[in-house]
Amino acid sequence: MSVKSEPVEQVAGLRERIRYHEHRYYVLNDPEIPDGEFDDLVAQLQRLESAHPELVTPDSPTQRVGGNPAEGLVAVEHTLPMLSLDNAYGESELLGFDRRVREAATDGQTGFVCELKIDGLSLALTFENGSLVRGVTRGDGLRGEDVTANVRTIRSVPLYVPALSRVAQGGKAVEVRGEVFLPLDAFRKLNQEREKNGEPLFANPRNAAAGTLRTLDPGVVAGRNLDIFVYQALVDGQVPRRNHSEVLDWLKEAGFKVNPDWKRFASVQEVIDFCRLWEGKRENLDYEIDGVVVKVDSIVLQQDMGETSKFPRWAVACKFRARQATTVVNDIQVQVGRTGALTPVAMLEPVRLAGSTISRATLHNLDEIARLGIKIGDTVWVEKGGDVIPKVVKVVENLRPEGARDFVPPPRCPVCQGEVRRSEDEAVLRCVDPACSAKIKASLLHFSSRKALRIEGLGEALVDQLLEKGLIQDAADLYALNHEDLAGLDRMGDKSARNLLEQIEASKKRSLGQVIFGLGIRHVGERTAMVLAQHFGSLENLSEAPLETLESVFEVGPVVAESVRQFFVQPGNRQMVEKLRKAELNLEEEQAESSTSDLQGQQVVLTGRLATLTREEAGRMIALRGGRVTSSVSKKTAFVVAGEDAGGKLAKARDLGVPVMDETEFLGLLQGQ
Ligand code: IVH
Repeated sequence: MSVKSEPVEQVAGLRERIRYHEHRYYVLNDPEIPDGEFDDLVAQLQRLESAHPELVTPDSPTQRVGGNPAEGLVAVEHTLPMLSLDNAYGESELLGFDRRVREAATDGQTGFVCELKIDGLSLALTFENGSLVRGVTRGDGLRGEDVTANVRTIRSVPLYVPALSRVAQGGKAVEVRGEVFLPLDAFRKLNQEREKNGEPLFANPRNAAAGTLRTLDPGVVAGRNLDIFVYQALVDGQVPRRNHSEVLDWLKEAGFKVNPDWKRFASVQEVIDFCRLWEGKRENLDYEIDGVVVKVDSIVLQQDMGETSKFPRWAVACKFRARQATTVVNDIQVQVGRTGALTPVAMLEPVRLAGSTISRATLHNLDEIARLGIKIGDTVWVEKGGDVIPKVVKVVENLRPEGARDFVPPPRCPVCQGEVRRSEDEAVLRCVDPACSAKIKASLLHFSSRKALRIEGLGEALVDQLLEKGLIQDAADLYALNHEDLAGLDRMGDKSARNLLEQIEASKKRSLGQVIFGLGIRHVGERTAMVLAQHFGSLENLSEAPLETLESVFEVGPVVAESVRQFFVQPGNRQMVEKLRKAELNLEEEQAESSTSDLQGQQVVLTGRLATLTREEAGRMIALRGGRVTSSVSKKTAFVVAGEDAGGKLAKARDLGVPVMDETEFLGLLQGQ
């Protein structure tokens, strides 16, 4: 044996032993040696590697946290889309799924695999020659963010998997997908620490996991104990086994952490029982689950059933019932939406539910009120539908007080007193007056909302004033406002007026998709708007498109097509579009994303509580433009972004004459660039 090969072999031997014990500890939760002994092995390896830096490889167990904080996250296209799952609520929808599977299964083979639905975020891991080379978040399903440096810190993610180097010779990539999550005890510890440091708390483990995974400093991520369960494998884009259950075994065998509580069933009845069982047992787990995923076991059948643009047809998620609470309905009020729909809203005695306080819940429409049999004064069960928008699910009739009152639908629009109509096919009452101020107001708020034209600072009170004073009639009129118009309004100083005008100006540069979404066309959500923008390339093309062309767009059905057509034939809308064009908004789809590096090399300090951005988001925005967030203010600081309760750093910035801006100005700065 040559002298030179000795350290090479020692390093290889140590790595193998460390990997083995990491797997026992972090994947199997079954350590074989005491922690101290494990630490000694790592220390030995570290010593050898420092003496022989040429032997360090990225997949060495010492390299989980390496390098400096990233400057920003980079978008990466997925080789195959990362789909979401369709939900099956209740037994009947599961039976429907079972029927579809049986119809597709020509050979009668219809086994299912049930897995726990981990409430985290999905991640794609890429391995080349057995070594982890990339970790990418799901993002919008087509493109995610490269979070490799952070993923490397997750101890249950192996950095080197010998079995994968064997299956994927000749440059084949292996992709393993799974769910990253934060175990409950790690979540509690993290929030306790944040409370101690006066930092905002994470609402739930999923948000904490998502925030952590997108943090720019892998050192921070390493301290948070993220974990992963994997559930999918692709070798050169192909599933490597004939059944999903075999894939799970294969992944486990290869050394990945697969959730142990999956089962294979032959009949839908067993699937239903499994879902029921886990709805009760979820509380015993030390991580959160929000349902059970039911997958067709046979890969051939999966391929036969195929997928829609969003979901595979061969799998469904049986979501558990959202967490519920009871409270009292103090009143039922009516809101008029963008489309004129009159939505009854229950005004509730505030109650805590799944991490937030709820004081309103939608009652959707008149049929829903009738179905629930709800009266003002009732005690009701509320729940968070999909854990976001609270809704009333049930009335507790035996707690109904004597004075409980029926809800009387308004005979006329409560805002403009215009005529109200109920169309035959809907349970919805609509105000039919196109000039209804509530509709216009809701449209304006939608137009300026974050996902649309993002005009910060254009809140409800301001829109009310602009409409009342007749300064605007539709969203396009915003672009004709001047300083004089604004400065005369209540609570609007010279500076706020200037800020708002800057915001309005900056909004002219939004993408075509955002503009289309902002128009508030019925049935056109954010994603459809993007699809339309990409397909038609300009607002002009879209507005002139005949029905057949609209319908032929992938992902656009007849209802959306008709709605788009209807929107653009109305003279009022045509005029508005014309005004937008004259105001020189961006009404064309940009081909390539413009690269922004306007903060190149600049140091920025964030201090105080920001209202709309988290620290991480702000940091990311700065990093994406080439800047760097630093923790203390010095003469080198380019500027300070000060939120609420900013203290010493703000004072220091003033002392040193370093420019200070608030959050709105900061966003304006970024958007103006
Ligand atoms: S399979 C093509 N299995 O749930 C099928 N997803 O609501 C892809 N999830 O985006 C997903 N646990 O992030 C699958 N055992 C599991 C899962 C799981 C959690 C997540 C995943 C997915 C989301 C859909």
